[in-house]
Amino acid sequence: MIPPDPMPPTQRPERLETERLILRDFRLEDTEAVHAYGSDPEVTQYMPWGPNRPEDTAAFIARALEQKTTWPRLELGLALELKSEAQVVGAIALHLRDLRHSTMEIGYVLRRDLWGKGLVSEAARALMAMGFEQLGLHRITAACDVRNVGSYRVMEKLGMRREGLLRQDRQLRGEWRDTLIYGLLAEEWGAGPIIQPPERDSAE
Ligand SMILES: CC(C)(COP(=O)(O)OP(=O)(O)OC[C@H]1O[C@@H](n2cnc3c(N)ncnc32)[C@H](O)[C@@H]1OP(=O)(O)O)[C@@H](O)C(=O)NCCC(=O)NCCS
Repeated sequence: MIPPDPMPPTQRPERLETERLILRDFRLEDTEAVHAYGSDPEVTQYMPWGPNRPEDTAAFIARALEQKTTWPRLELGLALELKSEAQVVGAIALHLRDLRHSTMEIGYVLRRDLWGKGLVSEAARALMAMGFEQLGLHRITAACDVRNVGSYRVMEKLGMRREGLLRQDRQLRGEWRDTLIYGLLAEEWGAGPIIQPPERDSAE
């Protein structure tokens, strides 16, 4: 069977919506909100970029505005707009790693005061549904620093499996770091998360 084209131009994903979030293209007016999380050293601790100076955030926004006119493209980066604040509080992306094998890697970041409320799991679930069900992906992967518990917990809540540990594969800020690799196949997607997310108290 011929696998489906992973990104037919006619199927450029429009904005996605979840209970608490809108996943959409970045806009120039998001610059300040992006800088709020991008300049936080705790947020960027395990990221290959940051903490951002104002010019780094401006360059990121300029790149995002330029990219959104191109489709298909190697990276689908979307802003996470929190409905209750009507502003951008983070970002989520699918990076095309291997077109021939229909594989994309997911990545995400969120403003620090909002961590631990299930927001990125909610966004990632919507983006993965789009990746498997709309873009016809075969495999979605994710990678994080071995110490980044919040990040790999998101992957596990989504049902991704830990596939390996790359020892000292990256040197960041003068230090060698180990990377955890997670993956999920299209055939596993329908099976739902292996670890069910806990019921959340509405007062949280
Ligand atoms: C990683 C990140 C995106 C997670 O976003 P989030 O919205 O807080 O994630 P969720 O609330 O959906 O899930 C996080 C889970 O990890 C758990 N967690 C977070 N930090 C933890 C820690 N230090 N120890 C144990 N569990 C932890 C949370 O309790 C939650 O699990 P639960 O729902 O079972 O309680 C966010 O912390 C972040 O932006 N970090 C900085 C950027 C980053 O590192 N991005 C990933 C790069 S690979």
